[in-house]
Amino acid sequence: MAAAAWIPRRIAAPGAGMLTAVKCLVFAACLLPLADLLWAAWRDDLGANPIEAITRGLGTWTLNFLLITLSVTPLRKLSGLDWLVRLRRMLGLYAFFYASLHLLTYLWLDQFFDWAAIVKDIAKRPFVTAGFLAWLMLVPLAATSTQAMMRRLGGRRWQRLHRSVYAIGVVAVLHYWWLVKKDVTLPFTYALILGALLAWRAVRRQDRGGRANAALVRTPGVAMAKSGAE
Ligand code: HEM
Repeated sequence: MAAAAWIPRRIAAPGAGMLTAVKCLVFAACLLPLADLLWAAWRDDLGANPIEAITRGLGTWTLNFLLITLSVTPLRKLSGLDWLVRLRRMLGLYAFFYASLHLLTYLWLDQFFDWAAIVKDIAKRPFVTAGFLAWLMLVPLAATSTQAMMRRLGGRRWQRLHRSVYAIGVVAVLHYWWLVKKDVTLPFTYALILGALLAWRAVRRQDRGGRANAALVRTPGVAMAKSGAE
């Protein structure tokens, strides 16, 4: 089937200089939430519980960056702006950066590096377990985010590993959902956005599978080889 008419054709990529400028702008913009928190801390404007405000602010931005990273491919496909993919690694690394600051705030300001208490807390409170698990799952993605690691692992293995970002999104939303005591409006909103992104991906995979099968049927030799193998 032909591509849906409402999906725009590919739009020419910006030149190398322009792309670098866009990357610099995005890089700086991603630091704004942190700057905002630091500025509020400097002005003593973090409310009655500053540690909670910092932990929560960093947690929220970790989740935002996770979902923004997951939105890059749908946005790219829907807009025809293929070069958006060039921003994905940076956005993913920012998710890891904010997650690590969020974890550090918890370890330092909340638990005062009392390792016995930390291990107990992670084991005892399901929302902390989920948060910690999400961070642990982000570590291999951050560690293999370079081109060199992509080459070393090989495209397929690298892709399979990096697909776990969807599972991380699910664990992260659960972490948020479980920590909220009464009003679940916000975690529910995040869950809806994540659900939409997962659904989009599932539909695309199905489309691709359908197209691949149709191609096999159109190529009799391959189709026979396939049926022989089954
Ligand atoms: C991918 C990793 C993570 C994500 C996306 C994430 C996200 C969030 C979000 C959205 C919040 C709530 C913000 C709000 O209420 O406005 C939060 C709170 C919290 N997170 Fe995480 N988190 C992650 C990892 C962790 C880790 C590794 C820990 C500690 C082991 C942790 C401990 C906490 C705690 C203790 C709170 C509650 C703060 C409070 O109410 O005082 N999180 N997190």
